[in-house]
Amino acid sequence: MNILHIICSPRGQASESYRLAQGILRFLLNAHPTATVTNRLLSAGGLLPIDGPYAMSQQASADVTEAGSIARSNELIDELQAADILLIATPMHNFTVPSTLKLWIDHVARVRRTFNVGAQGKTSLLHDRPVYVAVASGGRISGVTPRQPDFLSPYLKAVLGMIGLHDVKFFSVEGTAMGPNALSAARHTAQQALEEHFRAYPTVEANDPSQPKLFA
Ligand SMILES: Cc1cc2nc3c(=O)[nH]c(=O)nc-3n(C[C@H](O)[C@H](O)[C@H](O)COP(=O)(O)O)c2cc1C
Repeated sequence: MNILHIICSPRGQASESYRLAQGILRFLLNAHPTATVTNRLLSAGGLLPIDGPYAMSQQASADVTEAGSIARSNELIDELQAADILLIATPMHNFTVPSTLKLWIDHVARVRRTFNVGAQGKTSLLHDRPVYVAVASGGRISGVTPRQPDFLSPYLKAVLGMIGLHDVKFFSVEGTAMGPNALSAARHTAQQALEEHFRAYPTVEANDPSQPKLFA
């Protein structure tokens, strides 16, 4: 059992999205105590923008090089393929994903590796696996009157779906910029949502090898 943990906030491990993702991780590790966790920190220039040969390769019938962004992309796709569960910790930036997460997506959403293009449009090449997304936002992004659009969750659903990841579950801490009381209420709401979701999650006992496998 491998858990790939993508950390997208410029604040890294001090961030609210990281804090929420740690809450998710606690539940996952409770169910899978021997799981390995790979932390992929995207902040602080961890990932360069894609280069010209990579862009050319996306519209050619074969990759034009094995170096540069293609090499980095291979590494990140291998890491993703090796993961049984993907956990993304991300802030909302300007109604959508931060540029760090977009860069990671630009590296892993790659023609001939994670999707193909044909007469029917794009077809995914990865097998499905659970994806958990821990989102932190300064204002509210859900509920009756969020007062701002949320392009983050529909975008992530669409682009992850394009490469074959359809089982995507979002948790959020919303209103981090609205003062300490709002923040603590938002953390409490998020914790309740986690408890509710993981109540039905298989326990360690249910992962007995004699039982059917959870994730093929
Ligand atoms: C560049 C930038 C853009 C932001 N855009 C939004 C936004 O569109 N909506 C929102 O609610 N908060 C926005 N925020 C606030 C962050 O989402 C908020 O501070 C969040 O808690 C950061 O999470 P983190 O601690 O995981 O980085 C933005 C913050 C930054 C730095």
